[in-house]
Order: sequence, then structure tokens, then C-alpha cells
Amino acid sequence: MTLSDQQQKQLNELIEFLKIPSISADSNYTNDVRLAAKWVADSLQEIGCQEVEVINTPGHPVVYGELMVDNSLPTVLVYGHYDVQPPDPVALWDSPPFDPVIKATEIHPEGALFARGACDDKGQLFMHVKAVENILSQGELACNIKFMIEGEEEVGSDNLENFIKGHLEKLKCDLILISDTGINSLQKPAITTGLRGLSYMEVTVTGPNRDLHSGLYGGTVANPINMLCEMIASLHDENYQITIPNFYDTVKTYTAEQRNDIEKAPIDNEAFKAALDLEALHGEEGYTTLERKSIRPTLDVNGIWGGYTGEGAKTVIPSKAHAKISMRLVPNQQWDEISKLFATHFKKIAPKGVRVEVTTHHGGQPYVTPTNTIGYQAASKSYESVFGITPVALRDGGSIPIVPMFEEVLGCKTILMGFGLDSDAIHSPNEHYGIKNFFLGIETISQFYDNYVALWKAQH
Ligand code: BES
Ligand code: MN
Ligand code: MN
Repeated sequence: MTLSDQQQKQLNELIEFLKIPSISADSNYTNDVRLAAKWVADSLQEIGCQEVEVINTPGHPVVYGELMVDNSLPTVLVYGHYDVQPPDPVALWDSPPFDPVIKATEIHPEGALFARGACDDKGQLFMHVKAVENILSQGELACNIKFMIEGEEEVGSDNLENFIKGHLEKLKCDLILISDTGINSLQKPAITTGLRGLSYMEVTVTGPNRDLHSGLYGGTVANPINMLCEMIASLHDENYQITIPNFYDTVKTYTAEQRNDIEKAPIDNEAFKAALDLEALHGEEGYTTLERKSIRPTLDVNGIWGGYTGEGAKTVIPSKAHAKISMRLVPNQQWDEISKLFATHFKKIAPKGVRVEVTTHHGGQPYVTPTNTIGYQAASKSYESVFGITPVALRDGGSIPIVPMFEEVLGCKTILMGFGLDSDAIHSPNEHYGIKNFFLGIETISQFYDNYVALWKAQH
């Protein structure tokens, strides 16, 4: 891929951005998170944004900037996040996570940029800044654009709800535009129309008041780790359905026709297995792989610990065992209701001889965006002209809890114009983002505004 001088400059800027370890979850990096916020603010300033601000919150700051061209035109609010996931386990990276390198891969023969945040979401949010830079270098903006780039998405956007509620006038818009999802493939592009909700819990199981010699006490007291494993195992039945009472009560069911529609970009099970070196897939009986990761809820242990995990062997019955458990939710589950159902059930199934504590970390609602809006149609047209094929609508499995919040508080639909691939390894070691995806993304975003405003004008 030969890059123009302008493209080379934009790529170099992204590389600088990726060098900042803006890990929102780790307080050792608070200063770097702030540096990343400042970096985003500078990049907005550079393309000519007005009212650029780094706004403090009780957590990490929000970056705001706007380009108001005409009050009689619609306003698009671009959202993204400059924070990244911790790079752990760092030993599994082929190159340091905050020292970006470009390497070709089978899926990205033109090269991909390897760094934490390359795809999720620094690379994708930066496409929006550069799209506007390109538009302005050639002419004028078709509508008003506001940028709101946050630094706490990867830790649950805890302070963003209050931020939005406190800045209703500032954030007023007609549509929200986000690039923080995938495209399926460059040959068969998809626009994400659904995100799952999330309910994230932590449990602690306590047995004896101190760690015990497993010979002197083994066989006489409940081992909290054994008990925790039994409890976790009981949360799924033989069909891999979740056993929490009333868990499925509000889960939306679909007709055969609707399920066919959802299956428009089906997952190839053989390729899926091969990419993960698996001999078999696993999931709820009666559903396809795509359905299992989009329209069906799940429950997964994210981490489990307790007892002795150091070098060698130590004979011990630990006093405590812990686990972090999350549930992905679908319409019309309510995350706070599900958290309560989980807590009640998990305490109830505690065997005699242990105590159980359950806490809720964070949560968010699922989201489905309709395809009969001018926002979706404008996005679809833009992908079509760049990729030469009409994109399919795709319900995806990840979560962006602020999206349903936007709709609730700002009354606006969100269009998810993502360009990542599942193989880009977001949240994993060796995260990367295709250079081609980056530039085609910029191109698609640039076209979106014209398409959107044309449809908007036809409607007004
Ligand atoms: N960008 C992802 C969400 C995503 C990725 C959705 C790909 C669809 C396709 C986002 O940064 C993310 O990781 N969200 C978290 C939730 C958050 C509350 C920590 C998630 O889905 O685990
Ligand atoms: Mn993201
Ligand atoms: Mn993420």
C-alpha cells in the first residue's frame, strides 16, 4: 500500500498517540491517561475545532471540541474513548504494547499497526479526527460536528452519565456516531446494529477464619475454593442454559424469519474454530454461533483466585475464594434486575459452612439500532461506495454501555460505524489494526456526512 504524504503524516500521528499508556483501570497510569486526553484535545485544536476542552470528572477527563458551521444544519456527536485495556499479560506480546510497530499479517497483507489501543479505540476514534481534517482540507463540512472523547470506557464509563446529564445543552445533537466496533470483513462489510448489555459481579466465599493445614483439617471443613467451583458449575445446566431463576423471563425471542434475518452474515464455524485452535465450539443448545454471541445472554467467569498459586506446592485450605463473573445481556433484560437475581441466587446456593458476599461492579443496557433511519442509510451508502458492496446489518456481542444511555438521556440514536476485525485481538496480547482499515475507515466516515445531510435535507 503506497501512502500519500498526508496519509503518512496521519499514520505517524496515530503512532505517537499509541505510545501513551492510557490504561484507565490502573491508577499507576492516571497521569498518562491525562496526557492522552491532552493529546486528543491538541489533535482537535489542530484540525480547527472550537471550544476544545479537557473537562475533569471524578474519574478520568472527557475531551470536548466542536465545529459548528450552521445552526440550521444537523449536528453529529462523535463519541470515542482514548483509554485502553491493561496490556497484560505483557510477556505474550511479540513487541512492547506501547511501542507501536507495523507488520504484515495474513489478514492484513498491507500491514497492521501493533499496539494496545490500535483498534480499540485510539485507531478508530482518530479516524474521525482525520476524516474531518481531510474534509476541511478540501472544502467545507456538511453539518455541525461535536466530539466527546472519554477516558473511562474500559472501566465502565462510571462518570459519563453524570457528565452527559450535566452538559445537555453542550451535547445536544441529532445523531451519535461511533467507531468502536467491527466491520466483519473488508470483502463483506457489516454495520453493527446491536450491542449486548453487561452485568459485572464479584463474589467472595469465606470458610474458616484463617488458612488451614489441609492435612489437619482436610475432610472436616468446607474448602471455599471447592465450594466456589461447585457453585459456579451449577450456574449452567446440561444445555448450557443459565440456571438463575427468572434469568430468561424478559429475553426477547425471535421468529424463524427474524432469526434468518439476523443470520445474514453467518459465522463460518470451521474458520472460527481454526482461528482459535479449537476442536469444538461450545454454547447454548439450539442456537447458531452468531446467535450465541449476539441475541442470547451469557454468563462467564473472568477471573478466579484464592489459596496458594505461587511456585511449588503448599498444602492449604484457604479461608477465602474469589471470582469475577460477568453476564452479557440482551433485550429486554435490565442489568440492575439481573444483578439482583444473580446476587440472590448466588447467596442462596451457598453450601453450609461458607459465607458468600456478592458485589456489583458495573453494568449497562443492551442496544439495538433500527436500520430504517437516515443515519443508518447514510452509513450504509458510505460503506457501499467505499467497499463496493451493500453492508449487512450485524448484531454483535460486545458492549458499549454509554450507547443506550445516550438514547435515554439525549434522545438520540447511535450509528456504529466500526472498522475492526475480530482477529485484531482487542483486549488481547498483540492487538493490532489494519492500515487499510484505518484509511478506508477515514474515507467512509468522510462520505458519511454528505450522505447524511443529503438524506436529512430531503426529510426537512
Ligand atoms: N469497543 C469495545 C466494545 C465492542 C468491540 C463492541 C467490538 C462490539 C464489537 C469496548 O471498548 C469494550 O471493550 N467494552 C467492554 C465493556 C466495558 C463496560 C468494559 C466489553 O464489551 O467488555
Ligand atoms: Mn472500545
Ligand atoms: Mn474495549
